[in-house]
Amino acid sequence: MTRGGSHVGSAAGAGRAALVLGIETSCDDTSVAVLEGGARLRAHLIAAQDVHRIYGGVVPELASRAHLELLPRLVGRALAEAGAGARDLTAVAVTRAPGLVGSLVVGVAFAKAYGLALGIPVIGVNHIEAHLHAGTLELGPSPEPAVALVVSGGHTELVEVRGVRRYRWLGSTLDDAAGEAFDKVAKLLGLGFPGGPEIDRLATEGDREAFDFPRPMLDQPGFDFSFSGLKTAVALALARRGGPPFPPALVADVAASFQAAVVDTLVSRATAAVAAVGARALNLGGGVAANRELRHRLGEACAARGVEMRVPSPRLCADNAAMIALLGAWMLERGELPDPELDVAASLEESGLPLGGD
Ligand code: KG4
Ligand code: ZN
Repeated sequence: MTRGGSHVGSAAGAGRAALVLGIETSCDDTSVAVLEGGARLRAHLIAAQDVHRIYGGVVPELASRAHLELLPRLVGRALAEAGAGARDLTAVAVTRAPGLVGSLVVGVAFAKAYGLALGIPVIGVNHIEAHLHAGTLELGPSPEPAVALVVSGGHTELVEVRGVRRYRWLGSTLDDAAGEAFDKVAKLLGLGFPGGPEIDRLATEGDREAFDFPRPMLDQPGFDFSFSGLKTAVALALARRGGPPFPPALVADVAASFQAAVVDTLVSRATAAVAAVGARALNLGGGVAANRELRHRLGEACAARGVEMRVPSPRLCADNAAMIALLGAWMLERGELPDPELDVAASLEESGLPLGGD
């Protein structure tokens, strides 16, 4: 039986709100959530793995080990915080793709064992699809059609959202993800990992026009992105000035000029997508959604077009299990059958996401 006034776990079972355990282990954050009735977050824990910091990037082998260590403890804590017992759970939802294979395997193997022991379904969720809808938990349902921009360390995706499980892919990065570009440029500048937050901060002290960095792909039709050329342009500019440590004023100018180039590119593509789709809302997600210049500029662009810009709090923008539990709850509600062969997939292409749009 549960505490906290919930009707979950009530003796009758009729009209029982689903209580879904969400598990996210696709990269370097271990996260667990308990979601009731597809809406009420009763617990949400995110453990960032500090172990990668000294390496200046995520080390896949270390990430898998850390997930293995953290996951059982986080599940216990999340259930305690939710005031629920394992037997109160209706289903387990787990990220199955895309991501680091070793990390995904830890989450999926745990979820399968847990679900089997409890005799409840285990739903495999697509991580990017979950990002598209994460804002719903705080902001309510999004108007449709919507455009979603997911910008993180691993992804830069622009998607038309016509409804739950109805998407049309508009564009992706052809090389580095936006967050990856932030992290790589931060490394070139001698800053810590992850570099995005520090570049965001330093950019306010620099001149965004000090360097004329390229706005990649903007001369091309379509909605794809490319950030590796921009990173190379930064590397070349810095190579002419010796190695780190660089003077603080130079670091701030490079940070501001680089960020301006990334933000110009993202805003230009996203607003073109909004216009092409006739979108009523722009949903922003992924860790880079925390970037203040990006939020500000996208906000202005949306306001000028009468489009609702929706950005959930940083916890729901970053990798998190709440969004995984949400998608799992929706899939369960739609009667989608759990796949007994549930397996992981590293890439978005193999991840089985419905992309036709209908
Ligand atoms: O979604 P997320 O938490 O996880 C992964 O992709 O693994 O995104 C992390 C990414 C990192 O690349 C980080 O540098 C970037 O988001 N990031 C930012 C900011 N905060 C985090 N990039 C730019 N500006 C920020 N304020
Ligand atoms: Zn993510």
